[in-house]
Amino acid sequence: MSGSAIRPTERTAARIVPANAAGIAEGARLLRAEKLVAFPTETVYGLGADASSNAAVARIYAAKGRPAFNPLIAHVATLAEASRHGVFSAAALRLAEKFWPGPLTLVLPVAATNLVCELARAGRETVALRIPAHKNALALIAAAGLPVAAPSANRSGRISPVTARHVAEDLGPDVDLILDGGACPVGVESTIIACLGETTQLLRPGGLCRALIEEALGLALPERVASHEIVAPGALASHYAPSALVRLNAERLEPGEAGLDFGGRFSQGPATLDLSPAADLDEAAANLFAFLRELDSRGPVSIAVAPIPRHGIGEAINDRLKRAAAPRS
Ligand code: TXA
Ligand code: MG
Repeated sequence: MSGSAIRPTERTAARIVPANAAGIAEGARLLRAEKLVAFPTETVYGLGADASSNAAVARIYAAKGRPAFNPLIAHVATLAEASRHGVFSAAALRLAEKFWPGPLTLVLPVAATNLVCELARAGRETVALRIPAHKNALALIAAAGLPVAAPSANRSGRISPVTARHVAEDLGPDVDLILDGGACPVGVESTIIACLGETTQLLRPGGLCRALIEEALGLALPERVASHEIVAPGALASHYAPSALVRLNAERLEPGEAGLDFGGRFSQGPATLDLSPAADLDEAAANLFAFLRELDSRGPVSIAVAPIPRHGIGEAINDRLKRAAAPRS
């Protein structure tokens, strides 16, 4: 009997398999069986479940410790499929045709034919849809034949995962399978745009830059969302929080601080990681969450962050850092 006992390490470890054909097939089978499957996208790793099943989606909220008022993004493989779930305005269609697959999520009025369950939508009459541009994600969604609800695969309020190991560290055995497709190339989450009737609004800056969206639409998106307007409920003030305090726009390191540098501003040493020594914003975005995790794991009192330009994907980087530094409840 004792020979078959599960050792503690086996009980607490998550299962990580390569995102090859066998891994994708198993992931798809588990999704159809209402299990949780973490998978890579070009932005961050997602914690996937059958978006049409309240029972499956309930497991996402439980595993993340996510408040039930915060709706999820449904991931699909084709625009035809997305059109079954959401009502596309002319602006929404233009963005979908231009930027999908890609780091863009559209919040649309929910379609009568939609399959995305009420729990995934947090009871709203809108639905968030995305076609990711990662071949493993697309293969998994297509093989499952389901819309896949997937928030970032981290515990609620923590730093988003950009490797399979990050997912395992955060969620452990609460996720049934983790598909390892390597590091996520973009590194920050998708840009969220609400296209509701005549209104087109930026709800969350992300991997797709504002300027590209404005160019496609031929209009300027309002700078910030007023509190009475549509919001992404997940865009809460404190989020992406490491254990250490975060100090923004630091010109130099104080004693005992860890440094998150950009463009070689701090004196380099063991306490510092540079998001991009060459001051390249795309490289900085790809390194952001992994470097925050790494510095945090060293247990500093605070992490000092060098100033980072706000243009391009810098808008999303600054958004995430602002929330990492926000007062915590
Ligand atoms: O890149 C991404 O978007 C990743 C990958 C896995 O696709 N997903 C992701 O999901 O970042 P999550 O749950 O961490 O963030 C989704 C955001 C939340 O802030 C949520 O409030 C918002 O989308 N959201 C979802 N449905 C919405 C809706 N119907 N109306 C407004 N906001 C919505
Ligand atoms: Mg998230």
